[in-house]
Amino acid sequence: MPEISPMDPNSYSRPDQVVVKELHLDWQVDFTRQVVAGFVLLTVECVQEGHDLILDTRDLVIKSVQDTASSKDLTYTLGEAHPNFGAPLSITLPESGKKTWKIKVNYETSPTCSALQWLSPEQTAGKRHPYVFSQCQAIHCRSLVPCQDTPAVKVKYTAEVRAPQGLTVLMSALREGQQEGEAHTTFKFSQPVPIPAYLLAVAVGDLESREVGPRSLVWSEKEFVDQAAHEFAETEVMLKAAEEVCGPYVWGQYDLLILPPSFPYGGMENPCLTFVTPTLLAGDRSLADVVIHEISHSWTGNLVTNSQWEHFWLNEGFTMFVERKIISRLSGEEARHFSAIGGWKDLADCIRTRGETDPLTQLVPDLNGIDPDDAFSTVPYEKGHTLLWHLETLLGGPAQFEPFLKAYLDKFKYSSLKSGQFVEFLQEYFKGQAEVLQQVDWQAWWTTPGMPIVTPKFNDALAIPCTALARRWVEWDPVTTKNPFTKEDLQALSPIQVRAFLAQLLEEAPLTSEKVCHMEEAYGMSSRLNSEIRFRWLRLCLRAKWDECVDAALQFITEQGRMKFVRPIYRDLYAWEEMRPRAVATFEKNRSAMMHVAAYVVAKDLHLRE
Ligand code: BES
Ligand code: ZN
Repeated sequence: MPEISPMDPNSYSRPDQVVVKELHLDWQVDFTRQVVAGFVLLTVECVQEGHDLILDTRDLVIKSVQDTASSKDLTYTLGEAHPNFGAPLSITLPESGKKTWKIKVNYETSPTCSALQWLSPEQTAGKRHPYVFSQCQAIHCRSLVPCQDTPAVKVKYTAEVRAPQGLTVLMSALREGQQEGEAHTTFKFSQPVPIPAYLLAVAVGDLESREVGPRSLVWSEKEFVDQAAHEFAETEVMLKAAEEVCGPYVWGQYDLLILPPSFPYGGMENPCLTFVTPTLLAGDRSLADVVIHEISHSWTGNLVTNSQWEHFWLNEGFTMFVERKIISRLSGEEARHFSAIGGWKDLADCIRTRGETDPLTQLVPDLNGIDPDDAFSTVPYEKGHTLLWHLETLLGGPAQFEPFLKAYLDKFKYSSLKSGQFVEFLQEYFKGQAEVLQQVDWQAWWTTPGMPIVTPKFNDALAIPCTALARRWVEWDPVTTKNPFTKEDLQALSPIQVRAFLAQLLEEAPLTSEKVCHMEEAYGMSSRLNSEIRFRWLRLCLRAKWDECVDAALQFITEQGRMKFVRPIYRDLYAWEEMRPRAVATFEKNRSAMMHVAAYVVAKDLHLRE
């Protein structure tokens, strides 16, 4: 096996020897062959004399490597490929007495590129044009560009991308104009703020846009663009609230792109252009917390970045914390607590599924030899959030902690860090409260598996009606009492409270199929289109082994590919032994329409791989 970097267990690159500073991409998007072909120009700097430049690659076809100053070909070797981490590309740099080089790598991607999802026209809403989009986080950028695919390295980039006429190219960057050619249009981009490789993103399709704010457009296929403009009309209000919490927004534009249904995440914080799943289009703006979350990453994650995936909580735990600070600004402190209670329940569910001794439930797990896609879970999000919540309470509340948050963002902006550096800065900032901080057992926070070592006290005002209704359902005895439930039960509950009511029931022992059948009669749950409600409702039915819901469950996991929804439903179907063959058959049939990462993790959920 080639040698993994001592700085990052998920990369071969050695930025401690030679570091990439800038990228320029020149790409042709070829839908016929399903490849991206062209070159990348890397500006690299020597850190330690006498070393090769080592880039991460995965399934790339490397055609040639040149030193642009001399136009000479350079010697390179492509190492042995690991199935998940790919292969190191070692380039011998010319001796020139110089400290910087501009290296051109001519290459193309392969049709199996794990970062890209290629859709045929039939798989799009418009049915007339093909579509392709990327998802690079955590370590898929290397299948799109040879690069130092570690979040410890940040680069500026520019790009020139050619796509067939009629299609629009978007990237995680500022749009710098387009030029019509004979059969192709060339789009130019620039990202002047240095970003880690995982934030590189591209999408090409028949796209339209609508303005929703002074710095925001929403983009999607034209079939969804009005709906999307309505759903995300509050973007600017959210951005302003985020700036109050975090400081100025440095990225210029904040656009949203609504992807096709196979997009595997709720949202992805690609700079200047957040990617979101179409399952957020609920019609009532009730799922906008995802947009608040992605906006928050503009600071926590995109400006201040985990330097290895082991410290992923610095991205996601901080982002949950900032997200809920914004929720507090927009909807009040009770709403913040309510959201935190929901997160705590999601965490409990996750720990139950993974097992409370699973080392991957540590806040800082060991990722040596482990693909971050296999480690991904609610743990860094909610255990990370719990740590920050605990620290805020310990250190005197928001009046003390919010200024600290701003100071932390200011201190680490444009850089990458590990958990220890966060602690050092916290201790320095709060040195006046050293005895208070002495109570925090950092080692236990980092390495104890299972639920957090501290359970915060949440204000449950908004949760009470949800838990009360759930209790009534649990305690109802259909043998002795006639069905007391009516649709009025839900009338006083907001969509997020209905979601919490179902989440509460999922924490209890499975209901009988008779009870869920009564619930359907009383509440008409199956006709609810809100994806978060539908998801929990279907899980409740599957756990009750209610046959009548199975078709709807299979439809739900094939009509969209958001892993947060698809994985638990596949797991529930797998756990219901009679349904196992249908689950596996549905997966096999649908696999080619799923994005690489989604198919990879569901195969594991269905025990089709180790
Ligand atoms: N950055 C993540 C998505 C991600 C994480 C992609 C790891 C690949 C690897 C994004 O910000 C996120 O957390 N999305 C959540 C939204 C939610 C917590 C509001 C999602 O997709 O559900
Ligand atoms: Zn996130």
